[in-house]
Amino acid sequence: MKQEDLIFYGEYAPKLEEIKALLLSEIQAMLDSISTDSETAVAEHIKCRIKGSESLKEKLRRKRLDETPESGFRQLSDIIGARVITHFVGDIYSVLELIEKNPNWRVVTIKDYIADMKPNGYRSLHVILTLPFGVNGIDTIDVEIQLRTIAMDCWAALEHQLRYKKSIKNTKLIEEELKRCADEMASTDLTMQTIRDLIRRG
Ligand code: GTP
Ligand code: MG
Repeated sequence: MKQEDLIFYGEYAPKLEEIKALLLSEIQAMLDSISTDSETAVAEHIKCRIKGSESLKEKLRRKRLDETPESGFRQLSDIIGARVITHFVGDIYSVLELIEKNPNWRVVTIKDYIADMKPNGYRSLHVILTLPFGVNGIDTIDVEIQLRTIAMDCWAALEHQLRYKKSIKNTKLIEEELKRCADEMASTDLTMQTIRDLIRRG
């Protein structure tokens, strides 16, 4: 953690680091239970992060909540977040099944933006878990796991990059073009899945 984040999270910092490491190792173990062979691996990569204090404070401010760690722990679900980038769409649902079966985890929400793409074109499957926390009277913390294919991640990364360039004109056109890219990538994901199914069956 950066110095400013250590200061902001204070007594909670070690526990956050511990949960982040645990989440990452549980996900890794879960993926290994499907395959340890790189030829058939479902995940292209996984990562886990603790939200930076600036970004957390900005989000709390936007939601008109107190800009304190406690308020974040109670009201937000992505102070600790993990991302699993899969090769194929089907892999996402295989990982989801494992997450739901994990006896150490309590799934509280599933948001399937693959079945229901956001109007702007965002696709991913989000799973929110409640994990034990137990520091300073805070019993639990919600964490968010985002499951996406390489194509979905590519779109989200580029769209995120563009969203912060506020000076761009032609917003309507740009929104339409981004949506068109998302549709094309969704179509490519489907074709890739079909090709894989053909190869596996063959
Ligand atoms: P916040 O959007 O985080 O305030 O919470 P929410 O309850 O609206 O959750 P939502 O399901 O919209 O998404 C939470 C997270 O998903 C975000 O923090 C992003 O990481 C990601 N996400 C959601 N929508 C988009 C999007 O349109 N573009 C990109 N690039 N990422 C998105
Ligand atoms: Mg949102």
